Amino acid sequence: MCGIIGYKGGKNAVKVVLNGLKRLEYRGYDSWGIAVKDGNIRTVKDIGKIGAVSEEDLKLGSAQMAIAHTRWSTHGEVNQINAHPHLSNNKRIAVVHNGIVENYVKLREFLKENNFEFYSGTDTEVIPNLIEFFMEEGVSFKGGVSKALAMLEGSFAIVAMHQDYPEIIGARNGSPLVVGRNNGGFFIASDVPAFLDLTNEVCYLDDKEMVIVGEGIDFFDLSGVKKEKEFQFIDWTLEQAEKGNYDHFMLKEIMEQKETIKKSIEQDDKKILEMADLIKEGYGVFFVACGTASYATRIGGYLFSKIAKKHVNVVCGSEFPYYKDFLTDKTLMIVVSQSGETADTIGAVKVAKEKGVKVLSIVNVMGSTLMRMADYSFLTNAGPEIGVASTKATTAQIALLTLLAYACNGGLEEGKEVLKKCVEESQELFDSKFVDKIEGLADKIVNYNDIYVIGRGTNFPVALEAAHKIKEVSYIHAEGMAGGELKHGTIALIDKGTPCICMVSNDEAKNDIISNAMEIKSRGGFIIGISPEDNEIFDFHVKVPDVGEASAIVNLIPAQMLAYYLAVKKGFNPDFPKNLAKCVTVK
Ligand code: F6R
Repeated sequence: MCGIIGYKGGKNAVKVVLNGLKRLEYRGYDSWGIAVKDGNIRTVKDIGKIGAVSEEDLKLGSAQMAIAHTRWSTHGEVNQINAHPHLSNNKRIAVVHNGIVENYVKLREFLKENNFEFYSGTDTEVIPNLIEFFMEEGVSFKGGVSKALAMLEGSFAIVAMHQDYPEIIGARNGSPLVVGRNNGGFFIASDVPAFLDLTNEVCYLDDKEMVIVGEGIDFFDLSGVKKEKEFQFIDWTLEQAEKGNYDHFMLKEIMEQKETIKKSIEQDDKKILEMADLIKEGYGVFFVACGTASYATRIGGYLFSKIAKKHVNVVCGSEFPYYKDFLTDKTLMIVVSQSGETADTIGAVKVAKEKGVKVLSIVNVMGSTLMRMADYSFLTNAGPEIGVASTKATTAQIALLTLLAYACNGGLEEGKEVLKKCVEESQELFDSKFVDKIEGLADKIVNYNDIYVIGRGTNFPVALEAAHKIKEVSYIHAEGMAGGELKHGTIALIDKGTPCICMVSNDEAKNDIISNAMEIKSRGGFIIGISPEDNEIFDFHVKVPDVGEASAIVNLIPAQMLAYYLAVKKGFNPDFPKNLAKCVTVK
């Protein structure tokens, strides 16, 4: 949540951070702001998206140093004053911040008692003022930042600059921050796509670390003790982080699943088998994730039961702490996350680590916090996912969990065959004829206020995720349900024409889910069957290939497409769903 970027170097810093902010917009788009240093500190801020703003509009000229922010508001309404950067009272220090200062009320009072004034409704404004307060006591900019950050409770990633110092300082505790370098300069940002056009050589900060970009670059812990850190090359390309010929990232990323499912299962066999042993030995295995990733783990739960014959507990990140009494040093936790930065999932890992639990992470972002916290990890290899609604990362997660389930039952090769078939046969889902058909379906149901999605077995969490996708981008109320549960209450809401998507695979649940669809049909519901075969009760059939245990993947893809077209037809931008941000770094 919130995107931040700072740059110092030979290029025009205004241009670098402006482009960086545009690439970070998926992290928040309530308001934005830029501060440059060329003698004095000058800022420009505004509400809304930065999308169409040009360098000329900013009227900031050129500078060697700048910091910038795109906001997803937590404290303080969306207005220009609350947009970052925030300045200290003496206007010499500018700070951009991602995270929450939980004790900001107390800190404000402390600063007010020391004659500081406050102009915004944000928690952030205490940070530049605390730095000013400590610098007035005679410490350097670095010392002021250190002392100020030591006062903060909560999470932060900040980038700060001072009018009288030639450096930019970045620091983190709980929110992501990554440093990039190329021949001409240094970047400090929330995420790699911010500067991927200029470098892919990166170094991730750990919690309680600080980076100072001056003439060169130096790393410290928050108390100011110097540290050595390594840079690494990330294999993402600029093309992956741009929309190309697509109108939206969401559609681009849906279509990229042509390749990404295959890439997700290109793993080291030895490691897969080692992890399978670890899972088999685990006395209490927990799958933990949030949002869409948690639906992927719920699909994984069914696959582990069916294929690996292994019971796993599936818990969403924010609820996991309430299970802590069941944790021992024999427990294995598998965390699944696209970003690797989700606060609730990270919080769950912290709870688990206190109990000596071993952690395996399945993440999409190399070097992310969850990857670094984990004892073992797999990358899903889906490339950068920019669209706020997760699509290609989700199917990559499901594919990898499927492979692990097979490996746990001694069937790694069989698992690979199943997934290879899924990759081959799912190619037809990306043909324009298929995509047009889904667009046509969106036309038929776009004016309904409610959509129901049902499934049984593995298709139950598929239904949950399909409904989740529809809700978050089209704002149509959609409810995913276990097919058998409908008659216990929700069926009361079915009227003539109510769209109901029915996930049907050739599995043991087939006859029962068709019966559930009939119950809806006989109450007037409009039945959309996502299934390898047509059925007389379907009013609309979406034909997907029959790919056995990988059916969750092929059933989800048309649901993602439908969600996309519903959003577009309602005039919404699916890349920027309201109230949401790509990376949820607050609890
Ligand atoms: C929905 C969506 C979110 C994320 C959730 C977890 O499309 O993207 O529900 O799945 O916030 O994020 P990660 O996977 O980054 O941990």
